[in-house]
Amino acid sequence: MRDLSYLTRLHREPSPLLLELEQQSTYDGIPSVDRASGRLLSTLVHAMMANRILEIGTAYGYSTLWMALALPPAGHIWTIDPDVERTAVAHAYLERAGVADKVDIINQPALEVLEMWSQRNIDIIFIDAEKTEYPAYLELAIPMLKRSGLVVIDNLLWSGEAGAEPSSRDSADLRAVRDFNKLFLHHPQLDATIVPVGDGIGIGARIE
Ligand SMILES: C[S@@+](CC[C@H](N)C(=O)[O-])C[C@H]1O[C@@H](n2cnc3c(N)ncnc32)[C@H](O)[C@@H]1O
Repeated sequence: MRDLSYLTRLHREPSPLLLELEQQSTYDGIPSVDRASGRLLSTLVHAMMANRILEIGTAYGYSTLWMALALPPAGHIWTIDPDVERTAVAHAYLERAGVADKVDIINQPALEVLEMWSQRNIDIIFIDAEKTEYPAYLELAIPMLKRSGLVVIDNLLWSGEAGAEPSSRDSADLRAVRDFNKLFLHHPQLDATIVPVGDGIGIGARIE
């Protein structure tokens, strides 16, 4: 058994605003990536000096804030979530962090936006919304990525259930995650892996 509390103790504390947002999300019962996944996103943004980021699934903006704090000076994030109340909270945190001008929040369902979207040369696309729509997000997202750009996807281990024996009682989301993982790992345009960080993070680099 790996001692993850050791890593939690060893890492630097997140900024006070990220800590406050963690607490508010927990208190309000709003889903977000965990702290280790937020850190991974931040490291990827720094490593790639990612100027152009697309996020699908904003909620209270915890993952958005991790990425926004790691952006280079001219960096920009477009983040999509139809939930106006949740993204109002995200906007308030981004404003307090002094990064609201670097983030466009788009309050529409992602598929409606992506089908009409003309942006290209995106450095990182982070997917964390409707699980049954993951295959459609992926197919629409890949052409928007620059070569060597990353698509990063949350929840691919689905609380450990993805690896369990399939059963007729499995939810639609669980079945969707299992099917998606096969599609993702064998996608001809990606060099893809799934790492056991948080709820299972997929990282795919565009190679074609
Ligand atoms: C898991 S939460 C996102 C958490 C966020 N990435 C974070 O770590 O702080 C998923 C979000 O996807 C949003 N969502 C649901 N359907 C969506 C859709 N069709 N397009 C975009 N976002 C959607 C929900 O409103 C919800 O806030």
